[in-house]
Amino acid sequence: MDTRPIGVFDSGVGGLTVAAEIIKALPNEKIVYFGDTARLPYGTKSKEAVTRFSKQIVKFLMSFDVKAIVIACNTISSNSYDDLQKEFDIKFIEVITPGAESCAKETKNKIVGITGTQATIESHAYEKKLTELMPGIKVHGVACGLFVPLAEEGWTDCEIAYLTAKEYLDPMIEKGIDSIVLGCTHYPLLYNCIKRAAGDNIKIINPAYATALKLKEYLTSKDMLNPNEEIKEPDFYLSDQTPKFKEICKIALGREYEANKADIECL
Ligand code: DGL
Repeated sequence: MDTRPIGVFDSGVGGLTVAAEIIKALPNEKIVYFGDTARLPYGTKSKEAVTRFSKQIVKFLMSFDVKAIVIACNTISSNSYDDLQKEFDIKFIEVITPGAESCAKETKNKIVGITGTQATIESHAYEKKLTELMPGIKVHGVACGLFVPLAEEGWTDCEIAYLTAKEYLDPMIEKGIDSIVLGCTHYPLLYNCIKRAAGDNIKIINPAYATALKLKEYLTSKDMLNPNEEIKEPDFYLSDQTPKFKEICKIALGREYEANKADIECL
């Protein structure tokens, strides 16, 4: 039994889609969320910069005495997870393994599409994990650079988002994929447009669900679940106040929340 909070972080508001699944799977747990809105996007930055920024965020979250940290960002999971786990004495849950495992379970024809930021696609993290799980699988990755700004802008369900999704997905659909991984935590915010562009025969895989289950399994196995049943409100911290935060909370979490500003660059 452990009543300490869980840290969750992303480059921005995308990780709210993971926080939403954690809240559903573990309603007794308190979440402290950090989004690095001042330095977003991470997906176009180098591994060195992503790792350096992530270390500052981890130090910030550890100041809340968190019991585990969820890296609610594919770019950080694919580029910096090993470095973070080596440096900090805390359990990290990343999103690539659960995403790849869900995809391996869902695909029937072993031809799959991965969407993600440039840094995630270039890391080939999904391809490596999927090949380990399912030798012979064909993986078509596409960097979808415009999805993050669309999501941060709150343009999640409109014709522009749909046409953008179509442009990115059509080439992988032509290759015969039967599933698409939403390999960036911002992308589930655009679910309706991505689903419409993919059509009815392609499964859309959101790794957030399996990530929340991984966290639950870990806390259960270590007897670290919070037994306290009173509802705990999550706390949100951003490195820059974004006017769209409340709107995106509404889409991801079903209601508006206030965010606090936190300066972490000195850490
Ligand atoms: N949400 C992040 C991810 O899952 C990336 C967004 C960004 O480029 O900062 O990869």
